[in-house]
Amino acid sequence: MTLAATPQTASLSPILKQATPVVVDHALGSWIHGTDGHSYLDFTTGIGVTSTGHCHPRVVAAAQEQCTKIIHAQYTTVMHQPLLDLTEKLGAVLPLGLDSVFYANSGSEAVEAAVRLARMATAKPNIIVFQGGFHGRTVAAASLTSAGTRFSAGFSPLMGGVHMAPFPYAYRYGWNDDAAIDFALKELDYLLASRVAPNDTAAFLIEPVLGDGGYLPTPPRFLAGLRERADRHGILLIIDEVQAGFGRTGKFWGHQHADDLTPDILITAKGLASGFPISAIAAPTELMSQAWPGSQGGTYGGNAVAAAAAIATLDVIDDEDLVENARIRGEQMLSGIRSVTAGYDAVGDVRGLGLMVGVEFVSRDGDVAVPDAATALAVQQATTRHGLLTLTCGPEANVVRLIPALVVTEHEIATGIERFSAALSDVAARNDGP
Ligand SMILES: Cc1ncc(COP(=O)(O)O)c(C=O)c1O
Repeated sequence: MTLAATPQTASLSPILKQATPVVVDHALGSWIHGTDGHSYLDFTTGIGVTSTGHCHPRVVAAAQEQCTKIIHAQYTTVMHQPLLDLTEKLGAVLPLGLDSVFYANSGSEAVEAAVRLARMATAKPNIIVFQGGFHGRTVAAASLTSAGTRFSAGFSPLMGGVHMAPFPYAYRYGWNDDAAIDFALKELDYLLASRVAPNDTAAFLIEPVLGDGGYLPTPPRFLAGLRERADRHGILLIIDEVQAGFGRTGKFWGHQHADDLTPDILITAKGLASGFPISAIAAPTELMSQAWPGSQGGTYGGNAVAAAAAIATLDVIDDEDLVENARIRGEQMLSGIRSVTAGYDAVGDVRGLGLMVGVEFVSRDGDVAVPDAATALAVQQATTRHGLLTLTCGPEANVVRLIPALVVTEHEIATGIERFSAALSDVAARNDGP
């Protein structure tokens, strides 16, 4: 091969859209240090991934040690010890009865695995999802997603058999929680009666907190209503814990805020391995056994280094009492953000569960609150300038979300609130709003 006289230079595809201009040099705990010499308090955690913070020494050590043993032990060819150990450890935190685990790489893949399992096990085609839900970007996962047309426009046809019911988004409807829940359950019953027969429906699929759909906690009574209907009609309940699971909401699984509720299939990824790509679905053995053996798999699924990192993540969460920390620091963050946003007309709603807090921006048209994406974006960008990394979300892109690591300290939350407040007042001064 001869080299061209003038070597070609490549650049990153414009398909990628980056929320901040930061280029990372290194990171530790809740802090990212940029190549620009600035340090940033990271309330994005790689979209809720680095549960134990960046580069937790025990996660780093576990991954380093595993790298010296075997990196890629392809799991449909040979089995490896970290995956067996991880499965045993996960057994202790999985809801009772969900004792069979299948691994993949990403959240989207795990969502697809869950849907495939549900369809195979029930021999029924339909999946009912809820408006504003986000389940990933692969074609099937995007077909299940309604957190913004940006995730599913332009590459139709999407996967068939997906039907959508309303989510009890009380703030949007201008109702209280109970009215929104009653409405959403009534509309679900209407959908089941009018268009999507229970006998043709494999599963309901829902997040315990809508993530990309706007940081909206799913009310426990709504989840209980889904469970009751699932049992009544022989439909499976799939809970997508990809973003809300692994301690983030102050309980180990987000759905545990609904007492005594157990899903039929649970999906996990993100926080599972503190940043290494691994995902999983869990279901009762009896259900999992109805999948055709060999019907799922993949080259990289259940990677050995990721599995070792996941084991270390579980140990750190346990030893450092991080689920309880998420609960306490989450309460601090929610009340702190509520207090610094009070009095701003552009802040329509502040909500959250544990270390998932969303601030919804609106403009006013008389009594009507109109989603205001421009102000949300301005605030998100201003937080970066104040040394705090945040993200936007929501179908109308008008929510700023804060997602600190589970190791976040009281001082770091206080610093984050101060920086958020400074960013908000900058934008207000510029716009003569919010
Ligand atoms: C709830 C939920 N499900 C699925 C996914 C898709 O995961 P991934 O991006 O790893 O494919 C995400 C990602 O943000 C998510 O938040």
